Formats: sequence, C-alpha cells, structure tokens
Amino acid sequence: MKVAVLGAAGGIGQALALLLKTQLPSGSELTLYDIAPVTPGVAVDLSHIPTDVKITGFAGEDATPALEGADIVLISAGVARKPGMDRSDLFNVNAGIVKNLVQQIAKTCPTACIGVITNPVNTTVAIAAEVLKKAGVYNKDKLFGVSTLDIIRSNTFVAELKGKNAADVNVPVIGGHSGVTILPLLSHVPDVSFTDDEVSALTTRIQNAGTEVVEAKAGGGSATLSMGLAAARFCLSLVRAMKGEAGVVECAYVEGDGEYARFFAQPLLLGKNGIVERQSPGVLSAFEKQALEGLIDTLKKDIELGVDFVNR
Ligand code: NAD
Ligand code: LMR
Repeated sequence: MKVAVLGAAGGIGQALALLLKTQLPSGSELTLYDIAPVTPGVAVDLSHIPTDVKITGFAGEDATPALEGADIVLISAGVARKPGMDRSDLFNVNAGIVKNLVQQIAKTCPTACIGVITNPVNTTVAIAAEVLKKAGVYNKDKLFGVSTLDIIRSNTFVAELKGKNAADVNVPVIGGHSGVTILPLLSHVPDVSFTDDEVSALTTRIQNAGTEVVEAKAGGGSATLSMGLAAARFCLSLVRAMKGEAGVVECAYVEGDGEYARFFAQPLLLGKNGIVERQSPGVLSAFEKQALEGLIDTLKKDIELGVDFVNR
C-alpha cells in the first residue's frame, strides 16, 4: 500500500504524516509532497521513527515523484482560514491548487483513491471530480471529501455532554463540510437521548466547531492536529478495506445518486476498490429533516461553483 500526502509540510500534513508513519501496516510506503523546501527534511525526520513504513519527501512544483504508484492520495495543500473568514473565502486560492494537483494525479496515478481535505471541501471535491472527468479517469467510487473531523468532533461533544467514553460514541454526519451543510444525526446515536434544546445547541456547536478553533488560534490557522487524526482515521479505514477487511464504514463527502445534491456526505461501506455501498441516512427526526431541507440549496451552490471553475 502506498499513500501520498500532498501539502505534507503544513499543519495537517505533518500531523497526518506522523500518524501514518506510526500506524500504516508494515511494508507500506508513504510519500510526502509540498511546495515548501522543508518537505524532504520532514520525511528524513519521520524516517527515524522505528516502523516498517518507508517514507520519502519531495518539494518543488512537480508532485510526480510522490504520486508514482500511489494507491491513496490525500490532499491538504492550500491556505487555511483566519478569524472573520468563511471557508468559501479560501476558494480563490485553493481551487487552483486542487485543480493543479488533481491534474497531476490524473496523469500519474489515475486509479488511486483520493481524499480531499483542502477547503472549501463542498467545492474542491466537485473541482477534483470535473478535472478527473476531463482527463477521462473519473471513478466516483474513489473520490472522497474528508469530513471525518465532523464525526470525531460530534463523538467528543456528545460524550462530554452525556458522560460517555468518546471512543464508544459514533455519530453519523451527513450533508457537506461547512456551516449549515454539516448535519450530525444525533437521533442515530444508540442509548442516548437528547432534549430538543440539547439537539439544537449540539448541532450548532458541531457546525461551528471549525470556527471555534480558528478563533482560538487567533490568526494562527485552523484545526491541524484534530484534522491530522481525522484524516489518518479515514485513510487507515480505507487501507483496511482495500486490503480486504469486511464491514469498514466511514462517512465522507462523495458523489452519490443525487437524491439531495450531486455530492453528499453519508456513511459509506468501503472495499478493495473504494466505495462498495452508499448507505442511506435512514430515518430522520423532524429536526434533522428540516435541517436537511435547509442545507440543500447552499450545498448545490457550493458544488456548482466548483463545476463552473473547471468548465468555464
Ligand atoms: P497549512 O498552511 O499549515 O499547510 C498547507 C500546506 O500546503 C503548506 O505547507 C503549503 O506549503 C502547502 N501548499 C500550498 N500550495 C501548494 C501546492 N500548490 N502544492 C503543494 N503544497 C502546497 O494549512 P493546514 O492547516 O494544513 O490546512 C490545509 C487545508 O486543509 C486548508 O485549506 C484548510 O482549510 C483545510 N482543512 C480542512 C479540514 C477538513 O475537515 N476537511 C480541516 C481542517 C483544515
Ligand atoms: C474545520 O472544520 O476545522 C476545517 O474545515 C477548517 C476550518 O476552516 O474550519
């Protein structure tokens, strides 16, 4: 199994690379790429950790050496938010970065599974899909917007509120990855009940959790360490499924049947070739139904922006 991290010298990239160096199965290969000249040094640093994961780092304009033979590519390259910004404010810079990197993926490792972390995810995933389509190599079962941070945050906040062990809580989060498009399905958490006020307050906190970190870092960026963990969890689940483990389910933002929007975050059964089954969100509470109706227009507009960016 070979995993490539693009944007690997950044806050997320370095945390993610550390976790993958220590947790990928023995015999795996990990390549790091970033425009920052420090990237080969980050790889040398990590290479001293005693695991059987071979790691190499590449810097410069060309991602090809990092992408050759990759089974999974994770993209965290791009700029992060500062206080007062919305994720959509990152579009102008990050759209071009994602387009360029996915063009290189389409050329060098077109059959790889791709996890897009770079914001605005609702839009950058649409950009990635259109670039792959143009190159004639799009497989919708292999392109993911990484929304795992929304799940781990939900698990943490529910556990804190209800006095549970966070490791035992699993909240599915559907929709997208920004503001109201983030919809945690609190009604699906077994053995826990919430008052209406709790559902409303928890949902708002989960939707604003990214901003909570951006404001706390006061100009120093957005979530990096929790996101590194979230991306590692997603990648390691995908690795286990690709190696043949049955029953691996993770939520991610993917192209589906278009019932709500062309791209939609939902629980996915993963397998050797990416997505095996897109699982229906199931029965929703009245609150969740209303929230779902309320998010669709925003999500569709975010997607359209990405599609237009590639096809204009
Ligand atoms: P960062 O600034 O710490 O790191 C970004 C890295 O990208 C830098 O090292 C930079 O050199 C590199 N980079 C820029 N342009 C590049 C290019 N063309 N090719 C290769 N590398 C390039 O930022 P970060 O905190 O790691 O965040 C990265 C992105 O992830 C941001 O867009 C942020 O909004 C997003 N993010 C997403 C989630 C999520 O849940 N999906 C969570 C947190 C952050
Ligand atoms: C997050 O949810 O923390 C990320 O999407 C980063 C951000 O800008 O909020």
